[in-house]
Amino acid sequence: MPGNEAHAHGLGARLGCPVLVPELRQFPDGELYVRIDGAVGDDAVIVGNASGDTFLAITFLAGTARDLGATRVGLVAPYLAYMRQDSRFRPGEGITASYFARLVSATVDWLVTVDPHLHRIGSLAGVYTIPTTVARAAPAIAGWIAAEVERPMLIGPDAESVQWVEAVASRCGAPFAILEKTRRGDRDVSISALDRAWDGHTPVLIDDIVSTGRTMIEATRQLRAGGSPPPMCVAIHAVFADALQDALIDAGARGIVTCDTIPHPTNRIAIADQLAGAVRARLG
Ligand code: R5P
Repeated sequence: MPGNEAHAHGLGARLGCPVLVPELRQFPDGELYVRIDGAVGDDAVIVGNASGDTFLAITFLAGTARDLGATRVGLVAPYLAYMRQDSRFRPGEGITASYFARLVSATVDWLVTVDPHLHRIGSLAGVYTIPTTVARAAPAIAGWIAAEVERPMLIGPDAESVQWVEAVASRCGAPFAILEKTRRGDRDVSISALDRAWDGHTPVLIDDIVSTGRTMIEATRQLRAGGSPPPMCVAIHAVFADALQDALIDAGARGIVTCDTIPHPTNRIAIADQLAGAVRARLG
């Protein structure tokens, strides 16, 4: 899929398989044109983040690959969209995590992704009916922190983040703490304070997704208000719905880095090896 060529080539090199770049364009009326120019084997793997915008293209690519001879079509979506609306918070809301999972499950035969946002849904099997494998960013994040941050102290901004923070902390032997978050709206969150002596530790805020950035900004504000040194912010998925880097620095952060599950200028942590391992396991 456009924008995911680097991951496709990284996987092709690691797995020893050819990479085809399909032709995807719009007809004058806006409808999608799809062409795969090259031999498609038994196993076709589409590399791309399925979202509202890209899902139709992935569906058409999967159909084309099957027509050209693929007996199994897998999807490698480094960022799995539509995982956050995993419950009906207000009467009448749609649980879009389930509906999206149903669509993807009807389109491809298996799915590989990186650290999906699992909160009220305990595992992907709770909503996906196809086999799934989850690659973990924790080893890559721990490696980056060990190389770049002196005496890290890891901080999770909310209860959900404990799964990622704990996994990274155990790998880099760093202490950690988890804050409490209250979300009142898309851009309205408050975060609890942290009262501790820093003793030369550098705070590293870790979250799975940075979208509007309000979570990272408020967590940074609270840490700084409590006397912390500037925290380094690390996120797995650079959704960046809002341009927030300046606001984060204004709030007192040292900077922000992300894994390369979504192409973004803040990408510093490569997850190609973890992705290749997961795809290898899937292909058997
Ligand atoms: C939420 O539960 C996630 O773990 C992230 O904390 C959240 O998606 C971040 O969103 P935002 O950047 O909009 O605060």
